[in-house]
Amino acid sequence: MKGIVFTEFIELMETKFGANMAEQVIMDANLPSGGVYTRVGTYDHDEIVALVLTLSEKTGLAVPDLIQAFGTHLLRRFTVLFPAFFAELPEITDFLMKVDDYIHAEVRKLYPDATLPNLQTHLQDNGDLEMIYKSDRMMGDLAEGLIAGAIEHFGQSHDYQRQDLDQEGEAQCIRFMITAR
Ligand code: HEM
Repeated sequence: MKGIVFTEFIELMETKFGANMAEQVIMDANLPSGGVYTRVGTYDHDEIVALVLTLSEKTGLAVPDLIQAFGTHLLRRFTVLFPAFFAELPEITDFLMKVDDYIHAEVRKLYPDATLPNLQTHLQDNGDLEMIYKSDRMMGDLAEGLIAGAIEHFGQSHDYQRQDLDQEGEAQCIRFMITAR
């Protein structure tokens, strides 16, 4: 997993729970990297899982809630770090339809070793958007948080519903419906 995910996660821990808590979590998570990350580096996916589990133990907050909150934080940070991806898009549906074949495609050019999910979108006749998340990284809660963050960024004009589908082999599958309010 790319270092940018780790640096943003540590920043969020520091802001929400304080530098001491962040330091304790990094120490107790037993990270092969020692918890030193650069944005462009690549680290074992298990390290982000270890960080989230340790933070959950220490704060008593549920793992899915922490991952979702992180997704929403990440989306806010992406609007600052990658403003071009948000420019000239009138609606959240326009943005979400571009994630798989444009935004993540650009991410892959920038970081050829990125591990990205499959995010198929289907725009319905009534303007609702279906997004199907598939990935064997099992980061559906992160996807949910990112979608919630996008709804916030585009002015709360939409809601979303989540439906967990049967796993396909190793892949977690989730159907999100993004509907106008
Ligand atoms: C400007 C917008 C976005 C940027 C720049 C971006 C970039 C990235 C990057 C850098 C990663 C990490 C890849 C790796 O660690 O190897 C990632 C992973 C991921 N992205 Fe995006 N992303 C964006 C929007 C979204 C949105 C809106 C969703 C909503 C569904 C999404 C879903 C995910 C998920 C769930 C992962 C974790 C990997 C997985 O589940 O397989 N991304 N993205």
